[in-house]
Amino acid sequence: MSEAVAQEEAVPKPMMSPFLSDNPPPVIEDPYSVPIEDINVIDGRLFQQDIHWDHFKRLREEDPVHFNELPGIGRYWSLTKFEDIMYVDTNHELFSSASGITLGPQVGSDIDSDELRFSNFIAMDQPKHDLQRSTVSGVVAPPNLKKMELIIRERVCNILDNLPAGETFNWVDLVSIELTTQMLATLFDFPFEDRRKLTRWSDVATAPPGTGIVDTAEQRQEELMECLAYFTKLWNERAAQEVPGDDLVSMLAHGKDTKNMQPYEFLGNLILLIVGGNDTTRNSISAGVLALNQNPAEYDKLRADPSLIPNMVAEIIRWQTPLPYMRRTANEDVVIRGKQIKAGDQLLMWYVSGNRDSDVIDRPDEFIIDRPKARHHLSFGFGIHRCMGNRLAEMQLRIVWEEILKRFSKVEVVGEPERLRSSFVRGITDLQVRVHPL
Ligand code: HEM
Repeated sequence: MSEAVAQEEAVPKPMMSPFLSDNPPPVIEDPYSVPIEDINVIDGRLFQQDIHWDHFKRLREEDPVHFNELPGIGRYWSLTKFEDIMYVDTNHELFSSASGITLGPQVGSDIDSDELRFSNFIAMDQPKHDLQRSTVSGVVAPPNLKKMELIIRERVCNILDNLPAGETFNWVDLVSIELTTQMLATLFDFPFEDRRKLTRWSDVATAPPGTGIVDTAEQRQEELMECLAYFTKLWNERAAQEVPGDDLVSMLAHGKDTKNMQPYEFLGNLILLIVGGNDTTRNSISAGVLALNQNPAEYDKLRADPSLIPNMVAEIIRWQTPLPYMRRTANEDVVIRGKQIKAGDQLLMWYVSGNRDSDVIDRPDEFIIDRPKARHHLSFGFGIHRCMGNRLAEMQLRIVWEEILKRFSKVEVVGEPERLRSSFVRGITDLQVRVHPL
């Protein structure tokens, strides 16, 4: 792997959507004030300002398979109804992932777009997808999860016991990030003292330059090369071990279908696991605190009956939908709800909208911790790409809430949350809280 580190030119150039350019079109605050053709839910500012809800509501009601085209990005359709999303997600022969899972042109193209541009199995079709997924999926299989539960609980307790009671602090930083980072370090058997590097690399991998995380494409490239170099070293050490460890790097370095991966595939799969296990869980941990504060009657219900935690966890994940969409590409011409989709068109499955579709989910705009069938949501996707870490994520959230309830009568939100400017990761960047010990 080591020669790969020198191959800087192999890191693809990150992309840029018009909404991220120096001169973006004005943000549409009221979607009912414009012709429907002008609605374009890819604009990350809608999510940053938390004003995307009515955009999706209008699309679900008036144009559930909605067309947009952007220079340099191409033709794409926004699917906003639960059943349509399910149809595309479970029909992997008709709708491919191999051209990428975010909007925009792919590696090899010189057009800028919003793509997470590395080769990994989330952006592959069968049979390669299945081979690579099955090589790493053991790490989140039930026996490993059971082993991890003890370590995760220990780490959660440690984090919660050290919170500054009586002070105002950013929950995102001290709890959500710290905890998910510690869990990732466990998964990779990553040097514990360097664990914040994982958080940084995850942020850098998903954030286009100029949106607050990195300033330039060069800076992004440099940091991802540092990530590759670091993991290459770990890879070489683990590959040399006769008895492979049960961490993810060892699994990849010894797996017969992954051990000869190209550097960019290697980096791609690592980033997939880092981002997959990081941003999503982090934002669900923050979102739960926020949702309970916005819905005090639900917080009362929870305090009265902690056995609701597993159900609440599913509801939090629906409520937040940490990844608002995934993209597919049509392999052939197809008609959905009367719309003529052409082969090569991009389709965005807006999970964040399907999760608020009242045709499938009762009172979808309400946060209800004892909601029946709470796991019937789209946040983990469906089909062959359904989230590999879904049980791990749920376990983590369950443990966090079990331990919070043992310590605090309330985690009180005391400021307005700040959110990420992205339509791909629905993130909370700052959540000022005060904890009230029992
Ligand atoms: C609340 C937390 C999480 C959410 C909401 C989430 C969401 C998703 C979604 C939407 C997909 C794509 C599904 C599709 O295309 O049908 C996905 C795939 C994936 N997730 Fe997660 N995820 C979470 C946590 C995790 C964790 C903790 C891991 C770490 C192991 C992880 C690893 C992956 C991987 C490896 C894939 C690719 C699966 C494939 O392509 O076969 N995720 N996740």
